[in-house]
Amino acid sequence: MNRLILAVALFALPLPALAQANAELIAKGRALFNDTAVSGTGQHSCATCHPMNGHTDNKTYVGVEVVADGTTAAGRSTPTLWGAGSRQAMWSWAGTIPAIETNIRGIIVNRMKGAEPSKETLDALAAYVKSLPNPTAQFLNADGMPRDTAPADVKRGFAIFSGKGGCMTCHLPASYDKRDVEDVGSGGPFKVPSLRSVSKTAPYFHDGRFKTLEEAATFMFEFYAKKTSSDAKLSDTERNDLVAFLRAL
Ligand code: HEC
Ligand code: HEC
Repeated sequence: MNRLILAVALFALPLPALAQANAELIAKGRALFNDTAVSGTGQHSCATCHPMNGHTDNKTYVGVEVVADGTTAAGRSTPTLWGAGSRQAMWSWAGTIPAIETNIRGIIVNRMKGAEPSKETLDALAAYVKSLPNPTAQFLNADGMPRDTAPADVKRGFAIFSGKGGCMTCHLPASYDKRDVEDVGSGGPFKVPSLRSVSKTAPYFHDGRFKTLEEAATFMFEFYAKKTSSDAKLSDTERNDLVAFLRAL
């Protein structure tokens, strides 16, 4: 009997202890995320550009300077970090950084000109960022597919997205991204970004060149049609349906 109790205790105890340690790491990461001491000038925290618990400020940057959207090849639009822990893609717009800790180190040292961060700092920031949830998408199932209760235009939009639009050859559910880069004629290979919360992450593309989802979706549709040598066209109604689906993500 004693042995049974011991076995149960050994299996049961570490779990809450682990959860507790992880909660502490995330809390530490949240504090660091909001701390301007991370930057070289002491003027920027992660939350400066990723406000509202890791979202995007909808701006385009070179370093810590805001630049006009889509005007410079070096400009990078701030991505939302919501849902970061459940994405398939690698990190950064270049889509080539496998470990989030490496990416965060680069942002601190290169973008923010801050001091070399310790492993503990990077681990805490990574744990916090990966803990940020996607907002609830009321018309999506857990697998990313539209629910039966989704409005008709959202369902028609999904049919285009997964059908003649070819979008799902690159933007794979449930996070609607891909662990690979693609050259879609936007200036080189870039990561296939997640489309969750995409209605709130304008401006679009790595350099923020598109202000609206209509523009981004039309560009992508025309790219795919050209790539597949198809003469498929997107009517105004179909484009509105496609955008209705994107807004539901
Ligand atoms: C001056 C604005 C700014 C600050 C400050 C900033 N970021 Fe970012 N962040 C960006 C931009 C712009 C990108 C896209 C850069 C790229 O991919 O080349 C980005 C990308 C990221 C990514 C990659 C997301 C993805 O989907 O690939 C992570 C993670 C991230 N930031 C976390 C942080 C953390 C943690 C901090 C604080 C240490 C921070 N950021 C500070 C603007 C900023
Ligand atoms: C061949 C792969 C591929 C296909 C097919 C594709 N995309 Fe994309 N998509 C990308 C890449 C790569 C980017 C990022 C380009 C950049 O940043 O320059 C992107 C960016 C986007 C963005 C901007 C997201 C953001 O956060 O800036 C939207 C919206 C989008 N795609 C929607 C669609 C839709 C709708 C379709 C179908 C009509 C589609 N895509 C088809 C690869 C693809």
